[in-house]
Parts: sequence; C-alpha cells; structure tokens
Amino acid sequence: MVIELIKNAFEAKKAAYAPYSDFKVGAALLTAVGRIYTGCNIESAAYSPTNCAERTAFFKAVSEGERDFVAIAITGGDGSFTYPCGVCRQVMMEFCDYDTFKIIVARTPEEYTVCTLKELLPHGFGADDLKR
Ligand code: THU
Repeated sequence: MVIELIKNAFEAKKAAYAPYSDFKVGAALLTAVGRIYTGCNIESAAYSPTNCAERTAFFKAVSEGERDFVAIAITGGDGSFTYPCGVCRQVMMEFCDYDTFKIIVARTPEEYTVCTLKELLPHGFGADDLKR
C-alpha cells in the first residue's frame, strides 16, 4: 500500500501549478477505509493564496466528508525529500491521530522515509489545548 500511495503522489505532482517557484509537489492521502485523495500545489501571482499539495489533498477529502486518515505520501521537486510545511502539519493535527498518522516522504517510488505527526510536530497545538 505504501508504494501505491507514493505512486499516486508522483502522479498528482504532474498536475502541480507552480509557475512562480517552479517547485512541483504531489501528495496522496489514505483514508481508514482505503480511499486515496490526491493533491498538488497551486500557486498564485499574489503568492499568499498558494495552497500546498498536502492541504489540497486534505481539503478535497474533508470536503467530501472524510474524517478518518491513516497516512499521506508526499513528493516534491526533482529527487529531493520534501517534508510538509508547518501550516500543513497543523492541518494534519486537526484531522489525524497524533501518534499513529504516518507521513511518508518519497524521493523516488522506492526511496522514502516514514515518520509520525508527533515526530514532525512536537507540542503541536490542537483542539484539546483550547479547553485548558
Ligand atoms: N509546497 C508544498 O506544496 N508542499 C510542501 O510540503 C512544501 C512546499 C509548495 C508550496 C509552493 O507552491 C512551493 O512548494 C514552493 O514553496
């Protein structure tokens, strides 16, 4: 399943709209029931409306009613390891299990690293913090 998810991320990268940075990113998000939602980065001449590939995948899935996610595969640039930005990590914090959600960063379909959201976002701010 990991390799299939990574292949979906590579496929999604082809649709990236990145005329300003020329840095294309693709993501593939796996739900608990095995559905895959893909996303690419979408830039804007005004810069700040830019949406990362990871958030595109999350927003597509959440807007279709999905709430249960197990892993995301990410591939960015040409042969480098692209880890999600801080904003995307916070979006993951909103919808994913802190200890078990897997972030798969792939350089090629065969070369990848896997870590949890807790590892990438220590002391992340979540819904529980609002109650304190
Ligand atoms: N980008 C992503 O889509 N995901 C990441 O994890 C890092 C950055 C995009 C945003 C922008 O379109 C381009 O990469 C350069 O920052």
